Parts: sequence; structure tokens; C-alpha cells
Amino acid sequence: MCGIVGYIGRREAAPLLLESLRKLEYRGYDSAGIAVLNSGKVAIRRCEGKLGNLEEILARSSLPGTIGIGHTRWATHGRPSETNAHPHRAGDIVVVHNGIIENYLELKEQLSRLGSRFESETDTEIVAHLVDAKLSNGADFLTAVRHSLKEIQGSYALVFLNQRDPERLIVAKNSTPIVVGWGEGETFIASDIPALLDYTRKVTFLEDGEVGEVTAKGLRVLNGKGKAVQRAVKEITGDAVAAQKGGYRHFMLKEIHEQPRALTDTFRGRISLKEGDVSLEGVPLARIHVVACGTAWHAALVGKFMLEEIAGIPAEVDYGSEFRYRSPLIDSRSLLLPISQSGETADTLAAVELGRKRKAKVVSICNVVDSSLARKSDGVFYTRAGPEISVASTKAFSTQLAALYLFAIGLGRLTGRLQRSEAKRLTEDLLCLPHQVEEALKLEGDLEALSRELSSATDFLYLGRGINYPIALEGALKLKEISYIHAEGYPAGEMKHGPIALIDERMPVVVLLPKDRYFQKTLGNLKEVESRGGKVIAVTDQADGAIDAAAYRVLTVPRASYFLTPIVLAIPLQLLADEIAVHRGTDVDQPRNLAKSVTVE
Ligand code: G6P
Repeated sequence: MCGIVGYIGRREAAPLLLESLRKLEYRGYDSAGIAVLNSGKVAIRRCEGKLGNLEEILARSSLPGTIGIGHTRWATHGRPSETNAHPHRAGDIVVVHNGIIENYLELKEQLSRLGSRFESETDTEIVAHLVDAKLSNGADFLTAVRHSLKEIQGSYALVFLNQRDPERLIVAKNSTPIVVGWGEGETFIASDIPALLDYTRKVTFLEDGEVGEVTAKGLRVLNGKGKAVQRAVKEITGDAVAAQKGGYRHFMLKEIHEQPRALTDTFRGRISLKEGDVSLEGVPLARIHVVACGTAWHAALVGKFMLEEIAGIPAEVDYGSEFRYRSPLIDSRSLLLPISQSGETADTLAAVELGRKRKAKVVSICNVVDSSLARKSDGVFYTRAGPEISVASTKAFSTQLAALYLFAIGLGRLTGRLQRSEAKRLTEDLLCLPHQVEEALKLEGDLEALSRELSSATDFLYLGRGINYPIALEGALKLKEISYIHAEGYPAGEMKHGPIALIDERMPVVVLLPKDRYFQKTLGNLKEVESRGGKVIAVTDQADGAIDAAAYRVLTVPRASYFLTPIVLAIPLQLLADEIAVHRGTDVDQPRNLAKSVTVE
């Protein structure tokens, strides 16, 4: 994970690097640091915790200079601390890193035998030592980096600063993104585009195995063999990240409320099915493999119902981290459908690599334009949620569901399973959705007192069935991510096979109970919980005396169509998690130990 930045030019580097890091803080916030070279000396400021701490340090003791690098960390090797914070230094070499050096212990031993002394517990510090050792043996900066990379195994985006070379930064990439931005007499480096958009729209992406020499004039790219290669300069269109809370107490709440707009944007212009960003012509229809992580994986589980029932195509759902290490039956007749908000999740990207090797067609559902995933895919169906800042995903999730729904309708038409009139009816249902979500958001006021009461619980259970079972998983995930309360999502029908043993009067049980084909069955489960003293919070879409009789509280959302109900049911669960977290005083937007983008496996 981690966000890395670099700058070389004529402006003061430190404030610019800090500003760019702010756009990358979603990648981690365990520590932050900046190194700037000035008059032949590198000065470093680092600190544990969020970027705000580094900002305070820099306000007290500034770092003059026009060339520098910066880092915001999500700890992998070595606990979050100032000593483990990047940049790391060995002699003249200073480095920032995103990724994992897998053979670092072996290299550390070798370097120790040769006299290197290490300050930190990180894998990154050995890279600085490797390069410095080669510099001391007479190699020039670029050669020292290139030869060091040959000894490293793992994933990395690296930016090197050499105290004796104020004219260049060296960047290197393998499996972790890095982008270089072209300015006028200045050049920018970052883990991804939003960190550059305030300065330039002209960017070049490095490919795996490449090394770049970055000067104030621009970028020279070398491939693994050291040969210069031409890389295109791409013009980025679209808006810079609008990271404003707009009056909300935090980003998550703002993003929850943005869902009616985000959903409308996601289907706008695509509803005729003949148009749209994904041409469904030529898509293999034998079998679909959906891969994703975290919340996006929950969207994939709902998607399975849509793809199988609407389009009539078998769909398998995998975590990226599982798919990449098993032997999935995938070939040129398969469609790989990765889902990712960021498009940078390492395991999802690795799953795509595997799919491509097996000749599968890759069409992704992604929120971030030109992300690594988008660039690796044959086609992209962009969700138009807008920038999602809060670590806990909300509007990306609902737009992923809307995208899957549209995709399933498109495929259904292609397979002939869906008549035109049926497709028309399904798309009309979608038009009603933003308003239904808007109405569901009005439950916020009702949740205040309930959330306060529930905020002292230590465990929660979420139950759902069929297409809404993944929503139970998502409700539980939202709660644990931001409130740190243990929560489990379970298929209601499986409750008797274990979780029922947990139920007592201290256990809130959120039961998703829309008036759908499973209503009576799930109502039975609700009563089983109630009769064992569990505190049932029922979420339904139609008032019913039987629910009122058995539930502690009933939350009623507007009634949507069967396939779109999951989106509406998710709303009160997002709001509930948010309110409970607020009562518990946690950092809702940046919960402990998490990061928005998991760019290491
Ligand atoms: C992290 C985030 C989650 C997100 C998951 C997958 O765990 O905290 O909110 O769902 O990564 O991320 P992606 O960007 O691939 O959707």
C-alpha cells in the first residue's frame, strides 16, 4: 500500500509534496515523511501517524529545496513508528517505496555481513543500502539502481533521491503503480493521478520492469535490459478530486448521501443498452468469473444473482486473493469481470494477470478512470460514483450493483434470454431507484437514539437471504470497519448451524426482511432469534404486523424491484454503522489499521 510522491523543478518541493500526499492518504496513514535535497544535503522529516502530524513538523521546521520525495505509509514490515517511516536512507541514497520486498531478510543478512547497519524493521531500508553499496563501488546512480533491482524480488514502486545528484530522481516499478506528470521545467511523480492533477494533466505510466530517469525536463524510460523505450504521454481529462466534506461531519456520511446522484450518473446514457462504455458485442458468454476484494466482493455476490437470473450465464465469484492461487477453469471462452473501486487492489490485479494469461476476455467494473485495472482490461464499465475518500466504501458499492444490473441486462439481451419488453421493464425499475434511495436516507434521523443504545454492544449478527445475504455481509463489514465492534453476516437459513448459539439479550441481530420470495422463511428466523432473547432490528420494505410483533425495532425502506432491493436495504445499514461509530468516537473516514486501497497482497 502506501502513497509515494516525488518532485523536481523550480518550486519549493516540500509544500507541493505534502499537498500531493494529501491526495494519497487513502493509501495509508500509519506514518508520513518527506526528504528534500538542498545545497548538497538531504534533510528528512518523518513522523508516526497521519499527515497532519508531518504538516505540523514542517510548519515548525521547514525544508527548503526544489527536489524531493515523500511517503504516506500503511505498515507491512515493521510497526507504525517514526523509525519505520519512509523515506529511508543509506549513505547518499534516500528512498520511498510502495510494495513488499519479499527476499528482504536474505538481502539484509548479506548486507549486514558486508557492514551495513539498519535502523528500521522495514523491507524498504535494504533497498537504499543495496543502491548505496553499488554507488560506493563506483556505479553511477542509474546503474546502481538498475543492478540493485535485479537482486530484489517482490512488488515495488520506488523513488530514489541521491544526495550527490541534484539533477535527477530515479523511479522503478514492478506490480505497483507509478505515474510521472510532465510540467514546464518541472516533473512530478506519484502513486496515482489525483496527486498530480493540481499541477499537470500530461502523464506517463511506467510498466512493470521499467526504470525511469526523471529530470526537470521530463522522463526517460528504460526497460529491464536497459534499453530506452518510448512511453506515450497521456492527456488526463475529467475533474480533480473534489475532496470537500460539503458540510457533512465526515466523508463517509457525505458519500452515503451522494448515492442518489451517483446511481443516476452510473446509468445515465447507458439505459438504451445500444450505447454505453462497454460494447457487449464479442463478449464470451460461456461462463463469467467475477473477482473482487472487500466491499466490491460483496457487490460481486449480488452480481451473481443478477448475471445468472437476468442473463442466464453461470457466474462464479472469487476473492482476488483466492482466485490468483487456485487453478480456475478459465480460458478464451470465459469472461473475467473484476470489480474494484480504486482499480489498484493488488489481488484483483493479480487475478486479471492470471485471466489474461489464460486468454480470458477482461471487462472490469471500476470507479477510477485510467487506474491500473482500467488499463489492463479489454473494456471498462465505469461506475460514476465520483471520488470516494472514506475508507469504508458506500457509494462505490451501490454504483457497482447498478453497473452489474445494467451489465446483466445487456448480456441478457445478447443471449436472447431477455425479451426487449422485459429489458425495458428492468431498466424502468432502475429509473425509480435514486428516489427510493433518497427516501431510505431519511431514516437517518430515526437512527440516532437506536445507535446510541446499540453502541455499547460487543457483537452484532446480520442475517439475510438470497440476493440480500451479501447485504448482511456488507452491513457487518461496515460496522466492524468503522466502529471496531465485532460483527458477522450470515445467510439466515444457516443460523441454526452455529450462530444461534451466540444469541442472548446482549446480541443485536439485524435481519433483512424485504417482502420478497423468502419473506416467510426469514420471518421464521427472526422469530427464532426473538424467542432466544436476541434484540432484532428488522429492515423491511413493507410494514407487517408479524414483524412488529417480533422485532425490537423496525426500519422500513421504500419498496424497490427484487434485483434493486439490495441497494436500498444497504442504506440503513451504512447509516447505522456510521452513527454507532460516531457514538464510539472512532475516526470514521480513516479507521485504524485500514487503507482505502490495498496495493499489496
Ligand atoms: C479496502 C477498502 C474497501 C474496499 C476494498 C477493495 O479493503 O477499505 O473499502 O472495498 O479495499 O477495494 P477496491 O478499490 O478494489 O474496490
